[in-house]
Amino acid sequence: MRKISLLFLLIIFLFAGCSKAPTNDGVHNPVIGFSQSGTESSWRKAHTKSIKTELKKNDYEVLYRNAFMNQEQQLQDVRTFISYKVDLIIIAPLQEAGWDNVLRAAKKAHIPVIIVDRHIDTADQTLFLTHIGPSFKAEGNRAGLYATNYFAEKKLDSIDILELVGLPGTSPSKLRHDGFRETISRDSRMKITSTLVGNYTRNKAYDVVNKYLQTHKNKSFNILYSHSDEMTLGALSALKENHIKPGRNIVVITIDGQENIIKKLANGEVNCVVECNPDVGWYVVNAINRHFSGHQLAHEIYISETTFSESNIDKIPTRNY
Ligand code: AHR
Repeated sequence: MRKISLLFLLIIFLFAGCSKAPTNDGVHNPVIGFSQSGTESSWRKAHTKSIKTELKKNDYEVLYRNAFMNQEQQLQDVRTFISYKVDLIIIAPLQEAGWDNVLRAAKKAHIPVIIVDRHIDTADQTLFLTHIGPSFKAEGNRAGLYATNYFAEKKLDSIDILELVGLPGTSPSKLRHDGFRETISRDSRMKITSTLVGNYTRNKAYDVVNKYLQTHKNKSFNILYSHSDEMTLGALSALKENHIKPGRNIVVITIDGQENIIKKLANGEVNCVVECNPDVGWYVVNAINRHFSGHQLAHEIYISETTFSESNIDKIPTRNY
C-alpha cells in the first residue's frame, strides 16, 4: 500500500515538474507581459514579431505594450504589467539606466523578468532571470575585421573613419563602438576621425550626415561605419546628394542585415553587412518554458550571427526583415 502511494506521489511530482507554467485559475493560459521599446526599424518590427509569434505558438497569453522610444512610457508599461499580476515580463529596454525601481517592484510581486536585445545597467543581477540577445561587442569586432582586411594591402598612410552611432545610453551604441575600436587598433593607420549620433533612425542619420558633409566639404574619409541599417539608409541618401558614391568613393559597413540593405550590398552601394539577428522568439520561449519547469537559466544567452559581403553574397539566407 505504502509503495503504491509513493508511486502515486512520484507520478504527481513528475507531472508537476513537466507542467509548462503556472496557470492563474486553472482555465486561462499563463500571461506574459511583453514591453517593446519602439518601432524605429524593420529590424525592431521583426524582433517584436518573432517573440509574439513564438509565445502564441506555445499557448501563452500575450499582453503587449510598445513604448515608441519613450523611456518613461516603457517604465509605466512594465508597472502596468505588475499591477495586472502577469506571470512573467519580457523587456526589450530602450535605455540601459533607470530600471532598478521597477524591477524591484516586479521582484517584490514575485514576477520573473527576462531582458531581451539591449542590456540594462544594474548592480543587482538578481532583478532579472536572463538576458537574451546579440553580442554587440562581437558585432563591432566583425565590422572592424572587415575594415582591416579590406585595407590590409592598400598603400595608404592614413585611413579615416566616419562613425555613425545609435541612441546614446544604450548598450549596442557603446559595445559596437568598443568592439570596432578594439579590432581596428591593430592597424595604426586607422582612426575614427568623427562620430555622429543618429539615434538608430533614418531621418536623424540623414540630417547629421548631411550637415557633416556640408560643413566639412574639404575633409574626406575612407570608411563609413554605421551602427544600424536604418541609419545607413539615411546616410546613403545624404552621401549621394553630396556627390559621394557610397561603396566606391568610400567603404560602407553597416549592422543589422535588413532585406533593403542586402539589396544595396548586391548593387555595390554597401560593402559589408554585419548581421544582428532579430529572430529571438524561439530562444525566449525556450527560456520561459525551462524556467517554468524549474530549470536554472544561464544569465546571458547569445544569439548566433554572421557577416555578409561580396565574398558570400550568393549564400545569404532569405531575409524576413
Ligand atoms: O538594439 C538593437 C538595434 O536597435 C538594432 O541594431 C537596430 O536596428 C535597432 O534599432
